[in-house]
Amino acid sequence: MKRTLEPELMEDEEQVKAYAEADFEEPHSHFIKLFEQNFSDQVIEGTALDLGCGPGDISFRFARVFPKCTVHAVDGSRTMLQVARHRLGCSSTMQEQIMFFEGMLPDLHLPYRHYDYLISNSLLHHLPDPGALWSVIKQLSGPGCGVFIMDLLRPENTRTARRMVESYAANEPAILRRDFYNSLRAAFTLDEISAQLRQQQLDYLTLKQVSDRHVTVSGNIR
Ligand SMILES: C[S@@+](CC[C@H](N)C(=O)[O-])C[C@H]1O[C@@H](n2cnc3c(N)ncnc32)[C@H](O)[C@@H]1O
Repeated sequence: MKRTLEPELMEDEEQVKAYAEADFEEPHSHFIKLFEQNFSDQVIEGTALDLGCGPGDISFRFARVFPKCTVHAVDGSRTMLQVARHRLGCSSTMQEQIMFFEGMLPDLHLPYRHYDYLISNSLLHHLPDPGALWSVIKQLSGPGCGVFIMDLLRPENTRTARRMVESYAANEPAILRRDFYNSLRAAFTLDEISAQLRQQQLDYLTLKQVSDRHVTVSGNIR
């Protein structure tokens, strides 16, 4: 199936509410577990940047598991950031550890020029030009920076995409099921991501399919 773009930013209030209230326990705890496995030989400290953080679920999980890390998190959607900042305001323990910023890849203006870790979940498929993510990875990293990106994979056809919506979002609101279907159609294939990495000379990072619908790109910047 050909890639079909979905709107880049998630700004609609109803859409953001459905996304923020959805149950992402399985994929998001998988994200953290795979990150831990990938960097098990390293002490995770310093500052991590979460790219396309949305309502911040991955940022909060990361901060909880790695208390020696500060987390900066960026998104282009004000509506998403309102939810993320509200959640941060309600937390009694994370306010010193996490900061949310508004910004649009690839033109980010952040406090640091380089980060110790660059993480991102489910951003790549939103980008009309995937080079926006890979160029930011190169800009904001120095040698040794840990990179961990997870995203959806585009299924072979719309029937498989529909089946995945039924399997993984059966009890979610219609708007979330619609977005999931559209996200699967907007995602890249393994071959496409592999070509993106080659083009950006990042192909020494490890590209791996980690579930029927997820892919990761991980490693340390040379
Ligand atoms: C599917 S959500 C993922 C949110 C979060 N990472 C998570 O895993 O729950 C994708 C997010 O990327 C944001 N986004 C899309 N394109 C962006 C860009 N160029 N710069 C910054 N944020 C972007 C959207 O607004 C949305 O909040």
